[in-house]
Amino acid sequence: MSMSTAIAVNDLSFSWPSGSKVLDHCSLNIGQGEFCMLLGANGSGKSTLLRLLAGLLQSQTGQVAIQGSVGFVFQNPDHQLVMPTVGADVAFGLVEEKLSFLQVRQRVSESLAAVNLAHLQRRPIYALSGGQKQRVAIAGAIARQCNILLFDEPTALLDLESQLDLVEQVRQLVKTRGLTALWVTHRLIELDYCDRAFLLDQGRVVDQGDPQRLKQQISSIACG
Ligand SMILES: Nc1ncnc2c1ncn2[C@@H]1O[C@H](COP(=O)(O)OP(=O)(O)O)[C@@H](O)[C@H]1O
Ligand SMILES: [Mg+2]
Repeated sequence: MSMSTAIAVNDLSFSWPSGSKVLDHCSLNIGQGEFCMLLGANGSGKSTLLRLLAGLLQSQTGQVAIQGSVGFVFQNPDHQLVMPTVGADVAFGLVEEKLSFLQVRQRVSESLAAVNLAHLQRRPIYALSGGQKQRVAIAGAIARQCNILLFDEPTALLDLESQLDLVEQVRQLVKTRGLTALWVTHRLIELDYCDRAFLLDQGRVVDQGDPQRLKQQISSIACG
């Protein structure tokens, strides 16, 4: 492969203290600039894998290598957005960086423009749609200059139109800014927007490659 690897997972296993095994010798590689999706039944370990990639959980055996810094977008933006307004929320994510007032203002306006929300900087969070809230969460990651974005079922609470707007916008962001993204979904139509997909089953990658091939395979299984 000519592109450099942004996310490398090698032989990763993880069990909860109760002893149940969630990840079982899981391996996958994602190149810089790729938009990949992760599919799998409920309980197959998708969220656990993302949390290990983000450093929110520590791996027990195996290796995780990440080239850069990770931003996480959760299923429910109400669990992620903490400040009263759009601009304040994005700025809040920058407090640890000790930037000047002007630098913060610049990062906030640039990242909101990247997700087409520049006009909503002063809007209260409660007055946003679900899709707009997800875009604020993405702007937060862009403002922090994260080059790797992890999405855990970001469209699960959205209607079809906002769902497709969001996935299309994330694809454009990845491609125009050279980001890398791993996106967990159950909604097979979203596969039309990604470069490559992985299928997780019982904590292990059991298939990967062309999203259209995986889409057909999964829909034929689902339809019996
Ligand atoms: N904090 C936790 N403590 C114990 N078990 C958990 C915890 N979180 C998830 N699990 C279990 O780990 C397994 C994998 O969960 P998860 O990674 O959330 O799967 P998915 O995202 O694919 O639905 C499930 O059996 C789930 O019940
Ligand atoms: Mg999950």
